[in-house]
Amino acid sequence: NPVFLLSATDAAHFPTESKTHGRPEVAFLGRSNVGKSSLINALLGSKEARVSSTPGRTRAINFFALHEGSGGKQKTVPSIIFADLPGYGYAKISKSISAEWPQFIEPYLGERETLALCVCLVDTNIPPQASDGLLINYLQQTQRPFVVVGTKADRLSKNVLAKNLAALKEEHGVEEILPVSSKTSAGIPALWQRIQAVAE
Ligand code: GTP
Ligand code: MG
Repeated sequence: NPVFLLSATDAAHFPTESKTHGRPEVAFLGRSNVGKSSLINALLGSKEARVSSTPGRTRAINFFALHEGSGGKQKTVPSIIFADLPGYGYAKISKSISAEWPQFIEPYLGERETLALCVCLVDTNIPPQASDGLLINYLQQTQRPFVVVGTKADRLSKNVLAKNLAALKEEHGVEEILPVSSKTSAGIPALWQRIQAVAE
């Protein structure tokens, strides 16, 4: 039941009311290759979002509409919109988010009125990244609701995962990071609960 809406490379092309019906939108943000598209697929139980082996493959914002019900009973008004954003932090190391982000990410975050929740993905397998810190700071400053998820948790033992999550929380100044795995679906129901809370 997820429907691909459109792919936008420019703020002028973000889907409008006629497609979204003003429904709440959830954005997936993180470095290239952190697992954004895989996480969307795990949440949707489908292969709607394109997963690439090449980092930096998602160059546009891809929008998906989720509908309640199934088959003929599917509602025409979506319940929620998902936005799969291009990854940042690949190739260039920069102190400024805007310098390394595609031009339209900041307008998206700054102006998207229906944006109800940002899902920030951080990789649990690597040390805290400065670019992730910049994004989290940005969201804290702009008071956009967000939740931080730690991806690829399946690759780590329980102990190492706990240790890495503690380091990420400490470095990024957040109280909670939800560990998830798109491979095993660990943590996916907990994340769904957060998403559903904004969709009411
Ligand atoms: P860009 O679109 O390039 O920014 O990447 P992305 O953040 O959308 O990452 P994507 O979902 O394409 O995944 C990148 C790579 O990580 C792929 O090879 C995935 O198979 C792998 N991957 C993603 N999630 C997981 C996970 O939970 N566990 C494991 N083991 N691998 C994962
Ligand atoms: Mg992607």
